[in-house]
Amino acid sequence: MVEESTWLIEARNLTRVYGGDGAEIRALDGVSMKVAPGELVSVMGPSGSGKSTLLNLIGALDQPTDGEVFVRGQNLAHLANVDSFRAHTVGFIFQLHNLLPTLTARENVEVPMVGYRISRDRRRRAEEILSLVSLADRMDHLPNQLSGGQRQRVAVARALANNPPLVLADEPTGNLDTTAGRDLMRLLKSLNESQGTTFVVVTHDPAVARRTNRVLVMADGKIVREDLIGSPLEEDLKMWRHSELGEILLSGDDNLQERLELSPDQMTVLRRLLESADGGD
Ligand SMILES: Nc1ncnc2c1ncn2[C@@H]1O[C@H](COP(=O)(O)OP(=O)(O)OP(=O)(O)O)[C@@H](O)[C@H]1O
Ligand SMILES: [Mg+2]
Repeated sequence: MVEESTWLIEARNLTRVYGGDGAEIRALDGVSMKVAPGELVSVMGPSGSGKSTLLNLIGALDQPTDGEVFVRGQNLAHLANVDSFRAHTVGFIFQLHNLLPTLTARENVEVPMVGYRISRDRRRRAEEILSLVSLADRMDHLPNQLSGGQRQRVAVARALANNPPLVLADEPTGNLDTTAGRDLMRLLKSLNESQGTTFVVVTHDPAVARRTNRVLVMADGKIVREDLIGSPLEEDLKMWRHSELGEILLSGDDNLQERLELSPDQMTVLRRLLESADGGD
């Protein structure tokens, strides 16, 4: 059954219960969420809160105990061809980037295309996509000949191989250092902007979440909060508002105006900016 929908993802009241006989674990407990095409969304929350479970349900790697997921208006419970959905509609990036150790970077990227494209096209596409993630000079390396950040980029390339509209990433920066993590997020963001690929990124890192458009916060199998992320400037202002200096500025300490050598007008503008940051709460 196909429904017309403006949402790329729509989850309705998703529940996933593991186990039984009194030892039930409610990994997801009535989660509803929507993601529009072209969004870059992050999911945060403590360990065990259900983030991976949610991602697996959206990617049709698992099925809910209750509730429904629609991707591009298609109810995943009624997919005619699950393999084709996994190959063409979603790309997965896992935390441990499970590359096949005996295959080169290029061959790893070719894997999801097997059965869907002829060998020559697979090779060309793998080369194109590896260049896109700046690995043109590492195509013939095996995973253990690559750095962690490079391996993670191969995993990104593999997820994008069939040009899916949706990429699901489970802690893609989890085992990278700060710089490599920032580079990877920059890559995801540029793919999001240039190709319109929608990303749902699970992360523990607030710096990663800040680079997305929206953060869903989970706890105990539920989405408990949702934050819209502003432009970098807005985010800086928010941080500043909650800093000591921001609080003094907002407290209306007029000595500060003299100490900062600001005119009353400048002071007013500054206060207004800070007040407007963070929705003025
Ligand atoms: N196959 C399974 N069988 C039983 N319980 C499971 C299974 N998979 C997950 N769980 C339980 O479901 C809950 C949610 O797990 P999930 O993997 O979604 O958490 P998470 O938010 O991704 O955590 P982390 O940040 O540690 O990766 C946890 O309590 C977990 O122990
Ligand atoms: Mg997880």
